[in-house]
Amino acid sequence: MSIFSAHDLTISFGGIKALNHVSFEIEKGAVYSIIGPNGAGKTTIFNCISGLYAPDHGEIIFQDMDITNLAPYKIAGLGIARTFQNIELFSRMTTMENLMLGRHLHMKTGLWSGVTLFSSNSKVSREEIVHRERVEIIVDLLDLQSARDVFVGELPYGSQKLVELARALALEPKLLLLDEPSSGMNNEEKHDLFYWIKDIRNLFDVTILMIEHDMNMVRDISDKVLAINFGKKITAGTPDEVANHPEVLKAYLGEEDA
Ligand SMILES: Nc1ncnc2c1ncn2[C@@H]1O[C@H](COP(=O)(O)OP(=O)(O)OP(=O)(O)O)[C@@H](O)[C@H]1O
Ligand SMILES: [Mg+2]
Repeated sequence: MSIFSAHDLTISFGGIKALNHVSFEIEKGAVYSIIGPNGAGKTTIFNCISGLYAPDHGEIIFQDMDITNLAPYKIAGLGIARTFQNIELFSRMTTMENLMLGRHLHMKTGLWSGVTLFSSNSKVSREEIVHRERVEIIVDLLDLQSARDVFVGELPYGSQKLVELARALALEPKLLLLDEPSSGMNNEEKHDLFYWIKDIRNLFDVTILMIEHDMNMVRDISDKVLAINFGKKITAGTPDEVANHPEVLKAYLGEEDA
């Protein structure tokens, strides 16, 4: 069953067609990866999905609903959370504060009740417990215990990437968009991350759409892969099909030659 599809996505910036009639479809529960050289249009796809960019043409369907051109907060509210290629966290707040704030901004009681200004209100307290429980599960899963009370800006880069993943996961998304989750990580951190992404998919009811340059990671954990270049779809298929596609090989060799 398809949880998400994009049809004919097209968007230009000045003279550049960042996306040129890109279509793809994601099965519920899949880990789906997007690959392509620098500037291919990968992040632009995420920006269209999360409502930051309005495509010139095309449709985005999530859980049978047309979400094209909805406001970002509405799209987030429907269950699409993302991480950014360049980490976007509050660096002078701790890991726990970032995760709790992320939830409160999106959940029903809202920020101010969430910070327990009115802690005598039992409804708020109960919700607070639910928030905390969800966050604690994620902190445990991603081995972030030692980072919980540390300012995010003081954490090593790899840990900050994990906090961003944790924050997106804390929103209980149905579709989780990860923009180059392993970039800047060392090999050990990457290895753990591959493992955790598989866990996340198995433990939570979530579909994962991931932009990733590490082909080993892509091959290891993806059910399906979309390859794009110059804003155009080259092909979509199993990791092996895509990795051996002549135009994909050419796009990557071309990049190395450059
Ligand atoms: N807001 C914008 N204004 C102008 N040009 C943009 C904008 N967003 C994207 N582009 C252009 O669209 C093209 C695709 O960019 P995009 O960031 O989607 O690439 P990418 O595949 O994510 O690359 P990378 O691997 O380097 O992250 C690039 O030429 C980029 O300069
Ligand atoms: Mg990008």
